[in-house]
Amino acid sequence: MKENDQKFFREFIDVWDDGAQRDAAFITLGVEAILPDYYGNLLDAPPPFPVQKGDRVLDLGCGWGRVLKPVLDRGARAIGLDISHKMLLATQKHLAKHNHAAPLARGDVTRLPFENESFDMVYSLLVLQHLSKENGKEVFAEVSRVLCKGKDAYIRVPSRFAPENLLFALLQFARIHIFRVKDPIRMRFYRIGEIKKVCRNLFTRCEITAHEFRPPWNFHTRKTWHIIIIPRFLHRPLRRLSDKIETLANGKLPFLKHFGVTLMIHLTK
Ligand SMILES: C[S@@+](CC[C@H](N)C(=O)[O-])C[C@H]1O[C@@H](n2cnc3c(N)ncnc32)[C@H](O)[C@@H]1O
Repeated sequence: MKENDQKFFREFIDVWDDGAQRDAAFITLGVEAILPDYYGNLLDAPPPFPVQKGDRVLDLGCGWGRVLKPVLDRGARAIGLDISHKMLLATQKHLAKHNHAAPLARGDVTRLPFENESFDMVYSLLVLQHLSKENGKEVFAEVSRVLCKGKDAYIRVPSRFAPENLLFALLQFARIHIFRVKDPIRMRFYRIGEIKKVCRNLFTRCEITAHEFRPPWNFHTRKTWHIIIIPRFLHRPLRRLSDKIETLANGKLPFLKHFGVTLMIHLTK
């Protein structure tokens, strides 16, 4: 990350450190952590990608170890990296509770402290949206560098045109440019075309699937982002509808992919 603005950099880390101590599940997942009827139990879910026993796996921006734990359950040799020391302490605690231990590294996803071609799999879930466009490109390059030839990476980012994300972006714009609120944690939403362009020369294959098709749940301001405006009895039917649209988007009607809330990028080196 750009460190020429040291103050910004420090404040950015402080938010994650603070969140790790107060409510790590909510700060890392947002409303997804409090919508069990829509998401199921995300706090102990299987990894959203295949994992092979014995593989050397890298989790970029591992947070409190939510995904590292099921990856280790499957016999992978995983390493977690995060910029927040307190998130790493939370990971250590979470893994120990489940009789796991994994090497953890404090570091920046744009400059990985690993040798070329040292992993069989790399994943990063819901991290790149907090980085600038330039930093995002650096992460893709770093993932390609540390991944072995022929191996896979999985990167999940929020997508630009989902109604929920458009509303978030509009409110974020108003907060920053009209109300002049200084918040080090900003969200950047990704377009399918820009991802493909960045990955074209770094990977031999780039497949993108879209997930979660739903109306906005909440208004994202500091005070309101955990207030869910859609009544709970509608969450399960909305999930079923979303699953149907998801099948169409990732199959016969690919233009629908643009409107999914998140994109899963499956890369092969
Ligand atoms: C939204 S959370 C996602 C955590 C985890 N991947 C998950 O899905 O539960 C984002 C995480 O990325 C970390 N992070 C943000 N910017 C980072 C950077 N430049 N380098 C390393 N980690 C970073 C934060 O500290 C935080 O733990």
